[in-house]
Amino acid sequence: MRRPIVAGNWKMHGTRDSVAKLIKGLRDLALPSGVEVAVFPPSLYINQVIEGVGKVIAVGAQNSAIEPEQGALTGEIAPSQLADAGCKLVLVGHSERRQIIGESEAVLIRKFAAAQACGLTPVLCIGETLEEREAQKTLEIVGRQLDSIIDALGIEVFANAVIAYEPVWAIGTGLTATPQQAQDVHEAIRKQLAAKNAEVAQNTRLLYGGSVKAANAAELFGMPDIDGGLIGGASLNADEFGAICRAAGN
Ligand code: PGA
Repeated sequence: MRRPIVAGNWKMHGTRDSVAKLIKGLRDLALPSGVEVAVFPPSLYINQVIEGVGKVIAVGAQNSAIEPEQGALTGEIAPSQLADAGCKLVLVGHSERRQIIGESEAVLIRKFAAAQACGLTPVLCIGETLEEREAQKTLEIVGRQLDSIIDALGIEVFANAVIAYEPVWAIGTGLTATPQQAQDVHEAIRKQLAAKNAEVAQNTRLLYGGSVKAANAAELFGMPDIDGGLIGGASLNADEFGAICRAAGN
């Protein structure tokens, strides 16, 4: 059995004050014991969140450096520093970083490897744009993004990684993939992993992300290959986030 994960990606949101309020809201939640819960605050607030939320909620970083260890790399944070702060996970390849910042596959491969070298679990985000979906290229694009990591680092790296399928057209738009649309892609991802290693495919958690909220979470998480969610906007509201976590526990 794969243990579901619900992860909140706070993106570039928050102030010391709003983060303190969100921490308090998270502490007050009744979380289901069978679900792994994580939040990804802006790096500036990682220490505050780790001190605030206790051990029940894991904390991850939204980004980390291409090099594992600290050194001369202005503006970056080494995965070893994140691990030292108490982080457990790191997002790699979120579409906002691929598209807006322009992170290349070569950079993502280095970030993924550096994070794992420091004991962090990479959450690899993959997904197609609306244009690509309309051109019926979804599986090709997602397959290529996944293969880029497999070809460079080997299938075994997914024994300690999570994959998040996030259709770009569904992120922050209020448009959600239907449970069946999401399931179809998740099933294809799992088959692609299985072609290389059946055990890794069986055990790897595949999260769905893109306008997940309490109202649609249960239906999405009910699909056989959807093992939880990566939640953006709705994770900034503790009660809403808690309801999504409970949906993953049912
Ligand atoms: P959203 O974001 O839930 O606000 O659509 C998801 C994400 O980008 O991880």
